[in-house]
Amino acid sequence: MKIFDNKQNLSNYLNELRNNGKSIGFVPTMGALHQGHLSLLAQSQQQTDVSVCSIFVNPTQFNDPKDLEKYPRPIESDIQKLEQAGCDILFNPEVNEMYAGNEQWHLDLDELEALLEGKFRPGHYQGVTQVVFKLFDIVKPDMAFFGQKDYQQVLVIQKMIDLLHLPVKLVMCPILRETDGLAMSSRNIHLSADDRKHALVLSRTLNWLKQNFDLSQIASLTKQCEDFIKAEPGVQLEYFEVANGKNLRNADQGSKQIVALVAAKVGNTRLIDNMIIRD
Ligand code: PAJ
Repeated sequence: MKIFDNKQNLSNYLNELRNNGKSIGFVPTMGALHQGHLSLLAQSQQQTDVSVCSIFVNPTQFNDPKDLEKYPRPIESDIQKLEQAGCDILFNPEVNEMYAGNEQWHLDLDELEALLEGKFRPGHYQGVTQVVFKLFDIVKPDMAFFGQKDYQQVLVIQKMIDLLHLPVKLVMCPILRETDGLAMSSRNIHLSADDRKHALVLSRTLNWLKQNFDLSQIASLTKQCEDFIKAEPGVQLEYFEVANGKNLRNADQGSKQIVALVAAKVGNTRLIDNMIIRD
């Protein structure tokens, strides 16, 4: 695997590959890699000639400085995982390689920014789009692979692609879970053994909703789900929403695409999860 920390060198290297007719797949990450990240890489390897993974803990998308500080950064083991998985290129820049001082960025994300994660993490999606735009500009991928785990992020990136007419195809890949149902996340390492047990209420509730979806009205199902989660010790619910899968507005029984999304603090760790109820 080739490793770059300099954007110009990476860009030159990729230009050469592109001129030789190679298609480029891109998997942006913040590292602390797990099987979920590697499943995106596997998709990229299947669908493109050359796979680029980036590891960059992007400061502009953290609204809580403590969260940024404690974000795990096990770069040596990440490199090993990528080598083993057969990744072609890693881009692992320093902050000053990506940001030159105080830059302005604003994209009109409309209500996507006001709902759910947008509401609980003000400014988060401006930071995400800012860095993904920069990364796309350097890598110029034909295809970019993002996880359904961050469902709202996928909609936000697709909106950016549409607004700015970026020539990249976004592919959404399924959520990888531990055998007990917990969605894989770089943040799971912060969970104590007790937190880890309590955290299972999220996937359990989403599964319950999927199985019972046709038996009752959305409002009463949502209330029951909220009650399950609130009853779990050590878990502080932020939101549980049954939403239209296209725009994340409240779903109604007739919506063609429906996704249920949840965010909660388990101990001191904030977790998100979701499940597609109707595709
Ligand atoms: P990060 O949280 O590291 O996630 C990188 C990618 O891995 C995202 O597309 C995310 O949805 C996906 N992912 C995370 N957990 C997953 C799981 N259990 N199964 C499948 N895919 C999973 O998302 C970010 O980084 C950042 O916001 C980023 C896009 C890199 C911009 O900084």
